Amino acid sequence: MKTLEVKTSSATYPVYIGDGIKRNIVDLITSTGHSFTKLMIVTDSAVDAIYGDEMVRLLEQKWSVQKVVVPNGEQSKSFAQFEHVHTKAIQFQLDRSSCIIALGGGVIGDLAGFAAATYMRGIDFIQVPTTLLAHDSAVGGKTGINHPLGKNLIGAFHQPKAVIYDTSMLETLSQVELRSGFAEVIKHALISSEDFLSELMSIRSLTGLSKGELAHMLYQGIQVKASIVQEDEKEQGVRAYLNLGHTLGHAIEAEYGYGAITHGDAIAIGMQFALYVSEKQLGLRLHREELKAWMKELGFPIQVTQDISTKIFVDRMIGDKKARGGSVQLVLLKQVGDVTLHSFTKDELYHWLEEWKREEGCL
Ligand SMILES: NC(=O)c1ccc[n+]([C@@H]2O[C@H](COP(=O)([O-])OP(=O)(O)OC[C@H]3O[C@@H](n4cnc5c(N)ncnc54)[C@H](O)[C@@H]3O)[C@@H](O)[C@H]2O)c1
Repeated sequence: MKTLEVKTSSATYPVYIGDGIKRNIVDLITSTGHSFTKLMIVTDSAVDAIYGDEMVRLLEQKWSVQKVVVPNGEQSKSFAQFEHVHTKAIQFQLDRSSCIIALGGGVIGDLAGFAAATYMRGIDFIQVPTTLLAHDSAVGGKTGINHPLGKNLIGAFHQPKAVIYDTSMLETLSQVELRSGFAEVIKHALISSEDFLSELMSIRSLTGLSKGELAHMLYQGIQVKASIVQEDEKEQGVRAYLNLGHTLGHAIEAEYGYGAITHGDAIAIGMQFALYVSEKQLGLRLHREELKAWMKELGFPIQVTQDISTKIFVDRMIGDKKARGGSVQLVLLKQVGDVTLHSFTKDELYHWLEEWKREEGCL
């Protein structure tokens, strides 16, 4: 098992990564030094079907445990499911010393974390991530839900008490979801180092990745995320670098319809656009075509669909929570590992999106 420590201005907590470590979950939680009256597992229907009963059995060795299950998928990051989790918490009489266990991917982490942040003005929660993507979402304390008008618009910063990442649970993940998580690993490489990126680019297929390879990439990705969050917990500065590809990515997710495209696939398209603008505006020297071909080979979409107009995407991007006073800040690269933020007006954004789509033969 590997352990990392995340230290932010508001909290310090361990991230445990290892094959089969869920079997030791009672000891891992106990070793954090927090004592809880009750636990409430929040999970989704697909994860519940595979791991729900086992997790209840394991945790019941020490605590009184309840479980709330929401439908799987992005649609569960909603006001309705947020209310449902609160209702269950009240019915189960969770108190201020209770703890929510987020068992699932990024959707569950965000929803359960936000419920924990707001129930009785904030109770503890522990992340038990089950997707590759969650190496990003489970660390750093961003929690929240979507509004019909935009993604992640409602939320809170609330750090978990621990992250317990059993890599054996990734074995049941579909290829599509594995790829989605891999997009965030690529993002972490692009914003951190050439070496990390070249290591990733030696992977030619996502089928047959060994547990060792997965654990190694998770560890590296979490290290990048943790070091950024440590420096800037509340996104006043460098934390924004983690949004590489996300401004267009969020617009794609909202416009295609939540759940119609995975988060990672949307971010993968967003990163292609960010790299294009980085090259044209900042002279980024990256073998962009090679990177694009590699991502395509792995199965990623690399362009937006033709039937949604540039104007629609731009309007969505202007509505993103990272937009300020009618302009949008994009995360760009001067080179791999050298990140910068650049403001674009609505017209400039329109121009670059059109140019990029034209280059890709998408207009
Ligand atoms: N808070 C943050 O900092 C942060 C960062 C990145 C992404 N996110 C959010 O994360 C979400 C995406 O997360 P995700 O990709 O993990 O999606 P997800 O939680 O919806 O999981 C994807 C699918 O995989 C299934 N699944 C999960 N674990 C499984 C397993 N071990 N075996 C089989 N099936 C499994 C789920 O039921 C779901 O259908 C988005 O809402 C995104 O906004 C948040």
